[in-house]
Amino acid sequence: MVQIAPSILAADFARLGEAIRLVETGGADVIHVDVMDGHFVPNITMGPPVVASIRKVTTLPLDVHLMIEDPDAYIQSFVDAGADWISVHIETCPHLDRTLQLIQSLGAKPGVVLNPATSLRTLDEALRLVDYVLIMTVNPGFGAQRFRPYTLEKIQRLRKVIQHKGLSARIEVDGGVSLENVPDLVGNGAEILVAGTQIFGDPDPAAAVRKMKALAEQCAVDRQTIA
Ligand code: DX5
Ligand code: ZN
Repeated sequence: MVQIAPSILAADFARLGEAIRLVETGGADVIHVDVMDGHFVPNITMGPPVVASIRKVTTLPLDVHLMIEDPDAYIQSFVDAGADWISVHIETCPHLDRTLQLIQSLGAKPGVVLNPATSLRTLDEALRLVDYVLIMTVNPGFGAQRFRPYTLEKIQRLRKVIQHKGLSARIEVDGGVSLENVPDLVGNGAEILVAGTQIFGDPDPAAAVRKMKALAEQCAVDRQTIA
């Protein structure tokens, strides 16, 4: 099953509760929360207090994407606030094993994120330690950017490595995800689709989730038929 993870970065921050209810109605599986610190990426968004508020209005898993330097210093606060999944950028983690262990020891699902130009080779040892790998399909920092098509081949290679090693890590993709590229993304192995603009830019976000989910599920069936 392909999961849809609406990114609230594209929602109206003054009406987050309403935005989350709408995508829940549409069948969203996860809520994606983009945390930016103005250092690792050139933008500042939200922190643990916002996560704590969101936690009160939904039972969906909260997928917290940390685009911050020194994530270890903040992981406990995000778990306390109600994060269920926490992903860290490999580019920010010199002691990745320790960071992933920390996330797991606090009861959250650990994920690792790769920027578009970061090689899959950096994952060799860590792949066994994560629940999911988030492949950035844009450079992190802003919503509404153009999808980088060369990342499709990277997703396909990652899928093969995971299969070859018999691991259970799932592949999440984030950035510029739209109805146009969902067939290619899912066809190459994406299992969790993060989408901001495509969903919250639609006057009917619930319908936008429904549409993306139906398309993704169809593509997943096609993928299995071909494989
Ligand atoms: C980018 C963020 C994404 C972003 C996706 O740095 O990680 O989650 O919100 O937004 P869209 O779907 O608009 O590209
Ligand atoms: Zn994100």
